[in-house]
Parts: sequence; C-alpha cells; structure tokens
Amino acid sequence: MSQRLLVTSALPYANGSIHLGHLVEYVQTDVYVRFRKACGDDVTYVCAADSHGTPIEVNAAKAGVTPKAFVEKYRAEQHEDFRRFGVDFSTYYTTDSEENRRWAYRVYDALKAKGLVYKKSVEQLYCETDRRFLPDRFVKGTCPVCKTPDQYGDVCESCGTTYDPRDLVEPYCAICRSKPVIRTSDHAYVNLRKPEVFSVIEGWVNGEGHLVPSVREQVKGWLADLQDWCITRDEPYFGFPVKDPDFAGKYLYVWVDAPIGYLSSAEHYFAAEAPEGRRLAPAEFEARYLAPGAASRMEHFIGKDILRFHAVFWPAMLWATGLKLPDRMPVHGHLTVNGEKMSKSRGTFITGKTYLDSGLDPELLRYFYASNLSPGIYDVDLSLDEFRNRVNADLVKRIANLASRVHALVAKLPGELSRPAGVDTGHDLQRAAERAVQTARDAYRELEYRTALRAVNDLADAGNKALQERKPWEAPDSAPSRALLYDLTKALHAVAVALAPVLPRFCGALAAALGDVPLAWPEGFTPFDGRPVRFAAKPPQIAPVDAKQVARLIAAAPEAPKAPAKVAKAASPSETATKVSAKAAPPPPGVIQYDDFARVELRVGLVKAAEKVEKADKLLKLAVDVGEPEARTIVAGIAQAYPDPQALVGRRIVVVANLAPRALRGITSQGMLLAAGEPPNLSVVTVADSIAPGTRVK
Ligand code: MSP
Ligand code: ZN
Repeated sequence: MSQRLLVTSALPYANGSIHLGHLVEYVQTDVYVRFRKACGDDVTYVCAADSHGTPIEVNAAKAGVTPKAFVEKYRAEQHEDFRRFGVDFSTYYTTDSEENRRWAYRVYDALKAKGLVYKKSVEQLYCETDRRFLPDRFVKGTCPVCKTPDQYGDVCESCGTTYDPRDLVEPYCAICRSKPVIRTSDHAYVNLRKPEVFSVIEGWVNGEGHLVPSVREQVKGWLADLQDWCITRDEPYFGFPVKDPDFAGKYLYVWVDAPIGYLSSAEHYFAAEAPEGRRLAPAEFEARYLAPGAASRMEHFIGKDILRFHAVFWPAMLWATGLKLPDRMPVHGHLTVNGEKMSKSRGTFITGKTYLDSGLDPELLRYFYASNLSPGIYDVDLSLDEFRNRVNADLVKRIANLASRVHALVAKLPGELSRPAGVDTGHDLQRAAERAVQTARDAYRELEYRTALRAVNDLADAGNKALQERKPWEAPDSAPSRALLYDLTKALHAVAVALAPVLPRFCGALAAALGDVPLAWPEGFTPFDGRPVRFAAKPPQIAPVDAKQVARLIAAAPEAPKAPAKVAKAASPSETATKVSAKAAPPPPGVIQYDDFARVELRVGLVKAAEKVEKADKLLKLAVDVGEPEARTIVAGIAQAYPDPQALVGRRIVVVANLAPRALRGITSQGMLLAAGEPPNLSVVTVADSIAPGTRVK
C-alpha cells in the first residue's frame, strides 16, 4: 500500500558552501526518497537553509552585508549545488521566514504553557570590546588541564577535556583577542526532567523503529544525566526575538527554530510551491502530516553531531505543541578523506563545486557514497584510490559494459526480440534478476544501500558470465542466443530500476535506450513481463576515472570559510550565543585588530629552484612550492645577499600567499617572501624542515 511520507535532511547553515561531507547526508536521503517514490509512495522531501545564529551574524557583519542578504546568497548557492548532485528537494526554503517565526512562537508558547520554561541567571564570558557575550567557539585560551594554548571554550582538541569557558587559563575573545570579563544574564531554560515530558522523550527513544540500537543506547546515556536546556540568547543576535515579556530583549536560540524549520518549510511548500494538485492550506497540511495519529510518516535524516538536538529536544518540542513525533531518525557518521577528517590545510576540504569543477560526474560520488552506506553510524571514508577503483570496477567494467555488449548484439538482430519458447540458456537470469530486485528493494527500505548495490552488481556479474560462457556472437540468430539476449536485456531493465535511486540520470538514459521502459518499482516487480525487447538507442556509457582526475579534487580544493562554522551546537548555559557588533570600538591609532593581521595569508614555501634575473643585479627568480599543484614564481630583491642562488634551494621560507601578482622585469611574481635586514646584510626568514610546504604561518 502506498504511504505518505515527509522526509527531511538537516538544514545546512547558510554560512558557507556545501562540501562533500554534507553530501553524504543529502545523497543518503535523496536515494531513499527516490526509492520510495519509485515504489509508488507519496513523498515530500523538505530541506531549508538554517539561517540564524551567531556565526552567520558575525560573518555577515564582516562581509558588510545584512544577515538577510548574506543567508540568501548561500541559500541559493547551496540549492543549486544540491541540484547538480541530483538531490531533488521538494523545497529548499529558509528558517528566516514568516512561517517559521509563527511556528517558533507557537512552540515556545506551548513549552511555556506546559510549565516547562523557567528563568535562570547565568554567568558567561563577555567581550567589552565587541559588546557581546561570547559563545564557546568565540572564546579561546589555554586548556586548564593539559595547558595547550589556543583551545576553544568548550573542549580541548589536544587532551579532549570538556570544560566551562570560565575555566580557561588566559581566555581571549576569538574576534578581537581582548580579555573577556564575566557577566550575568537571565535566560529561559526548559526543564526536561519533569516527569510528563521526560517520559515522552524516553518513550520515543525506546520506540520501535525510531533509532537503530547503537544510537538508542547513546541517547539513553544522555537521558540518564539530562540537563535543562537554555533556549534564549542575548543580543546582538540574528534570530527571532522572544515575545514573552519575561525575557524581553532575548532571542530564541538558533537550535529552537532550526528543527521547527522542517515544519514551516513543509507548510510553505504545500501552501505555495507544490504543483496545483498537491497544494494544501496550512490547516490541512497540519491535519494530514503533523497531527498525532496522522496517516503519514515523518523521517529525519541527520548526522551524528546533531543527534542530541533531534533525539532529546525535538520530541519534547513536538509533544508540547501537540504534534506527532518522528517515525524514524536515521543517523549517519562523518566523511573522512583518505582516512582523515577533511582538512583545509591538507587540501582535503572539498566543496561540491570543487568536485563539479574537476569534471567528475556527480553520479559517481553518489554511487561511491551509497556503496558505503548502511543504517549504522559509520564514518564514510572517501579514499580517492578506492573511489576510482570502485567506480571503474562496478560502473564502468561491470554495468555499463554489460549494457553496451548486449546492445551491440541485439542491435544486429532484425526487428523486435521475443523470447523463443522452451529454450534453456543454461543461465537462469530471470531468477537472478527477480532475486536481485527483491533484495535491493528490502535493502533500500532499511537504508542498507551497500547490500542493494551488491545485489545489482551480482546480477550484472551473472549477465557478464552468461555472455562469456554462451558466446552468443558466434551464432547471433540462433534460438539459444536469442533467448539469452532477451533475458539479458530484461536483466538490464532490472539493473536500471534497482540502480535508479542512486544514479537517476544514468538509469534514465538506460531505460530510454531499452525502449523507454518504466523505472517504477512496485511490490513484486519483475521486468520479465513477456513483452518483446528492442533497444531504442545506445545505452549510456561511463568513462573510466583516471588517477589524475581524482587528484584534481585535492589539488584544487579552495580555502573554506574561516569562521567558526559549528558555533552554538551544544546546549550548556555558558554557551549563550550572541551576535557580532559591527560597532566595536576602534583600536588606538597604529594598532590593528587580529582580523587585519589574519587577512595576510602567510605560508611555508619550499624553494625548488633559484636563479638570477638577467640585467637586474638585485633580483632573484625563485620557484617555490607552497603546497599547490604548481610551484609559484616569486621574484625577490635579495640577489646581493645570496650571490650563489643555489644556496636557497631546499630552504623552507615564508611567503605572503595572497598578495596580488605583480610584474617585475617582465616576470610575474606570484607572492612575496619574508626577509629581515637590508642587503647585503639580509636573511630570508626560514622555518624548520619538519613543517610541510603550504602550512599556514600565523
Ligand atoms: N544547521 C545545523 C542543522 C540543523 S537541522 C534542524 C547543522 N548544519 S551543518 O551545515 O553543519 O550540517 C548539516 C548536516 O550535514 C548535518 O546533519 C551534519 O551532520 C552533516 N554534515 C556536516 N559535515 C559532515 C561531514 N563531514 N560528514 C558527514 N556529514 C556531515 O548542523
Ligand atoms: Zn572581542
């Protein structure tokens, strides 16, 4: 029976570009959505940009634009990037909407009406220069335990200790570097240990099918020590102001209105964006999708880092508002690249755009992710070698190759091809295809994509093997050859159906080539419907991926936005988030803000070659490796200090890497090096050999 579903992916912060880590989640969700639609279910896939919070406010101020303009730019860009990766949202809205404002107030009022909201005075670090409270990610200092300097206000990356920012040794404001003071402020807290709400959360966590067992255990661990949740922030902030006079001047914390964005974006979709026949007025939408007992499933796909908000706070908010609770919450792990966390300095922070610019087909990434995805919280490793091998072995050699071989043989036969009766080909491809389709169908539903894709590959293997053994090209028009080619063509239809959720474009083209066969996937589907077969066109091909192409992913990876993007994720009282003040007091004359210094991008460069510049006795021309694919040419006025330029080769120097290029004696210098003194008593600044080219100097 067809089901009605509301499916969501987490709402990305409108604070930067989509990267390959994000795409794990959106690909996982999109595959599921496409699968369920093919099964005949009525699926609405809702997403939006998460537009509020401190980092967005700070970065908008830095960029000199209003937060609204700032988030709209990213929202539009993200939507386009997702589209290019085949992620087919019903809507990609924003949490900074009137619908969301209305919903957020409704949820707040409901929490209050249940008697769950109370006021508490909290001490937090406050920057008098920036005139704002500092959320954890905006405070840095020395770890109180291991004494590592420059750690964030919530956790030490060196020893892993979590602490209160007030415990940092020598704390400083991450925006302006000045020393913060402690100030108190009143905030709204939600008491989640009240028995009526606690039992709802606990009941949901233990509920059948909501969470996989390992995730459930983790959440139960949190419930055993459940803290109250601070739901307001001080100004300046970009968000919804609290209307409640008890908390005048406060804003709703971004994590309150973010999940509410699922509801408001869906409401907006049905009211304004859905095709005519699917439009619903807000009240109808609510009755159909959100009311307790509504005949609709709500499934939220999220990453492991945002589980607490979704599995503890969100059910409480929904319950208080009188809405149904989620039916399932699939949680995925994180993406690593070549076994390590994506890293800007290693060049492995890969945005969606970098991938698209490399010329690689986005569907190949979808395939690689899907072939590594299962319902547990496992990290997905994008090993670039494995990516290439997997795509080449499965898609190129096994699947696309089978399609083109079968096509080449069938195309030579005149007219349509029916299955001659009573011929034993020695290969039961019908059974193999029907089994593969059934296995894949069960597996997609359970988010066992690995299993689904293995079934498809096994089927293609069986097809290739049958071809190899029966050699139908030897007697193409014989009954056994015709029977085999018929079965193979039908098996290709099965492949197209079972692979379409992952490779929609490729399978669309394959289905068209097979004579416009449908990609619908009803229960008990079999392509062996007795109808004759005939190719309408050549099946689509997939070009093998070579190592150079894949290497471009890393080499070309640009710097990602530098702001502390994950601010305001946790929920302890001391983390109260606030906004950046554009009106910070100016520094005294001659003194710069840290930001001014940070604009100069200093990097370690390894000198690969050095030579004199003809007819310029002061200049040397260097080739310097600064961690990019090509060495940079740098022309420097240091010849008098280095009569033998070779002496510089192999030295690690410091280069200003973001200086506009400039022509000197007809040679374009792509940067500047740092040196102390005046020639001839001049020395180029060097660093130890252990520091890799490209490392940032700060
Ligand atoms: N804005 C919040 C979510 C609010 S949902 C009501 C947020 N945004 S995010 O942009 O940081 O992340 C969006 C989703 O992408 C999250 O589910 C997150 O887990 C996922 N990923 C972000 N980086 C990731 C990886 N490196 N790997 C896998 N998924 C990652 O959190
Ligand atoms: Zn400051």
